[in-house]
Amino acid sequence: MNMTRYLAEKRKTIEKALDSYLPPASRKPTTIHQAMRYSIFGGGKRIRPILTLASAEAVGGESEVALPIACAIELIHTYSLIHDDLPAMDNDDLRRGKPTAHKAFGEAVAILVGDALLTEAFRLIATKNFRAKIKAGTVLKIIGEIATACGSSGMVGGQVVDIESTGLKLKPAKLEYLHLHKTADLIRVSVTSGGRVGGGTSQHLSALSTYGRTVGLAFQITDDIQDFDSKQDIGTTLGEKKASYPVVLGMSESKRRATELIDQAIYSLRGFDEKADPLRGIARYIRTRKQ
Ligand code: IPE
Ligand code: IPE
Ligand code: MG
Ligand code: MG
Repeated sequence: MNMTRYLAEKRKTIEKALDSYLPPASRKPTTIHQAMRYSIFGGGKRIRPILTLASAEAVGGESEVALPIACAIELIHTYSLIHDDLPAMDNDDLRRGKPTAHKAFGEAVAILVGDALLTEAFRLIATKNFRAKIKAGTVLKIIGEIATACGSSGMVGGQVVDIESTGLKLKPAKLEYLHLHKTADLIRVSVTSGGRVGGGTSQHLSALSTYGRTVGLAFQITDDIQDFDSKQDIGTTLGEKKASYPVVLGMSESKRRATELIDQAIYSLRGFDEKADPLRGIARYIRTRKQ
């Protein structure tokens, strides 16, 4: 299958839906609504919501029904990036090739944009009726799982360990823990939520959970490899301060580990038919992507 075309089509679907779900930029107070749209439409890859749609399809469901949840996950991801870039955290000036939210709107508004996107995500899941195609109990379960994946035992917990590990040489097990929470938890719940909405069986969901965990970890290792390469290119030592795979395991072992995880992800889908081909393709894309 043509993955480039598949990803581009899904990205378009997601961006159209995000546009329709988000408050208009003209709504008061306009600063926050403009800033939310600035960060959301900043050119992300949309890999998490694409995974949600592809997972709904993989279990034989309709991806359209999963759109509100897919978009909610992208809102949460974008909030996490806005806060991650703040001076108190990674202190980055650029995100998705544009000035970060705090550079464009100031720190106070950037913090509030993150707060608003996180809250809006749960409003979106709770208020879209999914054309009555999903049982209320399933929606509640998904809300609980997303909250767990993002909270202090999930993504936020991973971010705390990341901040506390800056400048330290971590043991591989601690680094894996950090990456599993900071990045893989949200990716895994993107996948399992799609599987739930699509009506997957418990066997499907358990395989999807393994797939999400392994591609999620491979995603962060690949991100670290790319970050390390680009920072080495521009001759800074920043890449050495951050707790990352190339620093802890070395470059060739990091690449080997990422490839092994992608192989495990694809193997976890062995019980799925060709409807899971997009998930298999996304796993390969995650390892070879150029940005
Ligand atoms: C960046 O995520 C942050 C990580 C968890 C590595 P993405 O690489 O998915 O960022 P966008 O959404 O495409 O900009
Ligand atoms: C971002 O991780 C992860 C979250 C926002 C949860 P990084 O700090 O490693 O990612 P980049 O390099 O800023 O995208
Ligand atoms: Mg960070
Ligand atoms: Mg960062």
